[in-house]
Amino acid sequence: MQKFDLLIIGSGPGGYVAAIRAAQLGMKTALVERYNTLGGTCLNVGCIPSKALLDSSEHYYQARTEFAEHGINTGSLKMDLAQMVARKNSVVEQTVGGIDYLMKKNKVEVFHGHGSFEDSKTVRISRKGEEDLLLSAENIIIATGSKPKVPPAFEYDKKRIITSTEALQLTKLPKSMLIIGAGVIGLELGSVFSRLGTEVTVVEYLERALPTMDKDCSKEILRPLKKMGMKFLFKHQVNSAKTQRNKAVINLQKRDGGEPFELKADYCLVAIGRRPYTDGLHLAKAGLKTDEKGFIPVNERLQTAQPHIYALGDVIGGAMLAHKAEEEGIFVVEQLAGQKPAMHYRLIPSVVYTWPEVASVGYTEEELKAEGRAYKTGKFPFRALGRARASGDLDGMVKVLADEKTDELLGIHIVGARAADLIAMAVALLEYRASAEDAARICYAHPTFAEAVKEAMLDATEKRPLHI
Ligand code: FAD
Ligand code: NAI
Repeated sequence: MQKFDLLIIGSGPGGYVAAIRAAQLGMKTALVERYNTLGGTCLNVGCIPSKALLDSSEHYYQARTEFAEHGINTGSLKMDLAQMVARKNSVVEQTVGGIDYLMKKNKVEVFHGHGSFEDSKTVRISRKGEEDLLLSAENIIIATGSKPKVPPAFEYDKKRIITSTEALQLTKLPKSMLIIGAGVIGLELGSVFSRLGTEVTVVEYLERALPTMDKDCSKEILRPLKKMGMKFLFKHQVNSAKTQRNKAVINLQKRDGGEPFELKADYCLVAIGRRPYTDGLHLAKAGLKTDEKGFIPVNERLQTAQPHIYALGDVIGGAMLAHKAEEEGIFVVEQLAGQKPAMHYRLIPSVVYTWPEVASVGYTEEELKAEGRAYKTGKFPFRALGRARASGDLDGMVKVLADEKTDELLGIHIVGARAADLIAMAVALLEYRASAEDAARICYAHPTFAEAVKEAMLDATEKRPLHI
């Protein structure tokens, strides 16, 4: 039986980054992945393919709606979804190929097959058409990720009732699509299809989109999405979803009463969150069990009930984000190497890759209110920026939250062009515990979208923005 210092089950961003860091720190490392390609949800059916289609569809949308104003006439414009999907597949192929290269470069031993516990130090690898392998390790990381959540009342047949995984593979443009859930996937994939010309209706149980983000972000992003043509039904409960004669049919009603009614479309995309994935891991053989929601419980060091078995990423819950999983991978491995790393969960940024983008870090205003903390706010609209007028990206705003007394920054929320990149600066400001005044006194290049951050800081600290 081969022996390793560290064995990692799952090659998503949590698992593969942990493997690289472990190899850098001199550990003999094994990485087990049940699929043929490495990279997990993120690289294969998540972050990367969705961003490829978001970018392609945004190009098309701009060409259709904005180029003429910029003096660019394209003549008749044609959209080829099959080519967009082929390009997306090629982007995925190159990216997962890159992980193979990184594993070789770092001398991580990769095993393709389903991993399951034999006991707390031994993992069985079941491989199609080949004999099982048994591997043992001093330390083990469970990084098995998540799968889409689909309740039984939604008859998920992968044909008309689909999840993000199937939506990313559609090569013929649907005329209409119903989306259950106005969360991140609902808005991102809803944008892709709406930009291409599909009639998109999003049904959300709660009263707003992106319910975990600051309320002002939800409000601000809805305007451009509605302008583009996306329709939203808030406070609606979906009772069932099924395929009928090649159409998706959902039965729904207003949450606070009202008669149930039906909606029909070519597809129904279920995007109501993801569930932890531990199927066939045989956790009990290692003396482990999941909590009532299926997550693997861990302590603050990310140790499970067995101190030498760690778990991280989507399978332990919290923000189901690739960069959170990556940081946790590094956190665990550096501890194993005797270092003293730290995780700052409050400072993990969230980004929604709509256009404009939504990006957020730190406390939301709702959270500060719930904690009874005294705070002040600063805001600045993108439309007052020279850069925004030059590019035509006028939608959006920056909102900052700072401690009422100390002026320490507590939260930064951005809706606007390039918010996904601007949020890195916001994270740095919060990590270094800057005050709003500190952030306002830094020099920002002109003309940039980042100037909206400076102006919002000026608004928060002394109510004296310059350009409004
Ligand atoms: P995963 O990436 O899910 O990887 C787990 C891996 O473990 C999988 O490859 C699985 O096959 C393997 N595995 C499971 N069980 C076993 C077993 N028993 N034996 C062997 N292998 C096993 N996050 C972002 O931060 N930014 C984004 O833009 C973003 N976009 C997304 C878009 C979509 C459509 C989706 C669905 C998700 C998106 N996410 C995004 C979320 C992100 O993909 C996840 O948070 C991230 O992949 C979690 O990483 P992980 O390592 O915990 O698990
Ligand atoms: P989500 O948690 O973002 O949103 C789910 C939405 O569905 C919520 O608004 C919720 O209120 C609603 N909902 C739940 N049950 C419902 C029901 N029965 N009827 C109607 N609405 C209902 O989950 P989503 O969009 O499926 O994404 C899954 C995960 O993937 C997210 O947690 C996110 O972290 C990750 N992801 C991240 C991305 C990014 O970072 N850009 C992109 C896509 C996904």
